[in-house]
Amino acid sequence: MLDLLHTTKTHDETRQGEAVELAPTGKADGRKLYIESYGCQMNFSDSEIVASILIDEGFETTKDYKEADVVFINTCSIRENAEQRVRKRLKEFEFVKSKKPGLIVGVLGCMAERLKAKFLEEEKLVDVVVGPDAYRDLPNLINKVEDGNKAVNVLLSREETYADISPVRLNSNGVSAFISIMRGCDNMCSFCVVPFTRGRERSRDAVSIVKEAQDLFNAGYREVTLLGQNVDSYKYTANVAEGQEPLPTVNFANLLELVAQVSPELRIRFSTSHPKDITDEVLHIMAKYENICNYIHLPVQSGNSRVLDIMNRTYDREWYMERVDAIRRIIPGCAISTDVITGFCTETEEEHAETLSMMDYVKYDFAYMFAYSERPGTLAAKRFEDDIPEEVKKRRLTEVVDKQQIHSLERMSQHVGKVHKVLIEGFSKRSDQDYCGRNDQNAMVVFPVDARYKVGDYVNVLGENCTSATLIGKIVD
Ligand code: SAH
Ligand code: SF4
Ligand code: F3S
Repeated sequence: MLDLLHTTKTHDETRQGEAVELAPTGKADGRKLYIESYGCQMNFSDSEIVASILIDEGFETTKDYKEADVVFINTCSIRENAEQRVRKRLKEFEFVKSKKPGLIVGVLGCMAERLKAKFLEEEKLVDVVVGPDAYRDLPNLINKVEDGNKAVNVLLSREETYADISPVRLNSNGVSAFISIMRGCDNMCSFCVVPFTRGRERSRDAVSIVKEAQDLFNAGYREVTLLGQNVDSYKYTANVAEGQEPLPTVNFANLLELVAQVSPELRIRFSTSHPKDITDEVLHIMAKYENICNYIHLPVQSGNSRVLDIMNRTYDREWYMERVDAIRRIIPGCAISTDVITGFCTETEEEHAETLSMMDYVKYDFAYMFAYSERPGTLAAKRFEDDIPEEVKKRRLTEVVDKQQIHSLERMSQHVGKVHKVLIEGFSKRSDQDYCGRNDQNAMVVFPVDARYKVGDYVNVLGENCTSATLIGKIVD
């Protein structure tokens, strides 16, 4: 799952569409739960909450859906192909269910929220449909299904943050973990389905976030990634009893500082920053703490101001460039990655060329790149015609991808010949003779195993060689 954050993936193969199976755990003797996640890290993080809720009910988790009593798919709606993948997967479960009629099949997450009870009509094998704010109701919904009913809960909430639920870190490497700091989104970018599937933005209690970071550190974790659709608008004010002095509001810069102070040995990352909201205060806190990683994911979407305007991103080309300049000024050497959409409604060739020139301006370390996919119910679907032919969208996407390939290689090459502090995350995918981990700027580094160091240790690695996605080196003392 961590690979989703740093491997070059393009086109249809994106971070919004990986499946991760959970490793076995639990109190045993109970029914078995299999859960598979698609979409962004928020969904993966939610699956850990779902598992936690059901383990408390006596469930145990399994990696093998064939032995499961309950199969859940935590779904994503961000692009049409994300939904198609889920439909395909459901077809495969149809076969499993035909062999095991008592099997409960549930659809969770964004697609559940988008389609609601319609899901039950469209996919006959589905027994239960649960939106992202209704997971506490799962035990009750499962009971209903066991009594022979179908069950749906897609109520969105203005308060739910699952702050008190400790996620079970089931598929973890024991070193890095995600902490959800807020839910929902209030931005209404015109192309985006998230405000509809995730509801209103709300921030989680800062104390519970810091406690979760501390607990993870105590359990041996050395890196946390704070998650939200727009982390820069994090804002939490604790309730106090009547007559008491109100407590100060915690903004994202304050929260970053609080988490950074858990331990200098705990690395902090975060995602996603919104160009309209990222403040100099946040950049200064990043510069002040060595353990807050010098890496910012700052989705641009388009390099053209007119397109940004109809996307409802609420910044323009100049604003975005100024924010990039501020990052470069305040945090020299900070890596920047982005998301790009090609072929948004009415985008001209000249406007597309401005996306390419923006890429030249920033020279992103990394990018997630997509052809525009119209989503039902979004502002863009209502207001604009999806008028760019598929082959034009794809050709523009190829141009963006090709350019990014050059920039990724150029950025990675700059790490060669330098020594990097790397947190060992595990063995490399290719060989157990090599360790892998990331440097401060989120570049993946691969280097030979050295028996003196183990997973979870920090080591100094000299970069000797690279591809566009990986830095290859050796440990130096
Ligand atoms: N909250 C984040 C993004 C979440 S969705 C942000 O504001 O940046 C992740 C990415 O998916 C978006 O940044 C966008 O590039 C892409 N995306 C969202 N909706 C899309 C659509 N309808 N078609 C193509 N790509 C889309
Ligand atoms: Fe979607 Fe925009 Fe919210 Fe990101 S900020 S989740 S792109 S509406
Ligand atoms: Fe997908 Fe929902 Fe995340 S639509 S990208 S899983 S918030």
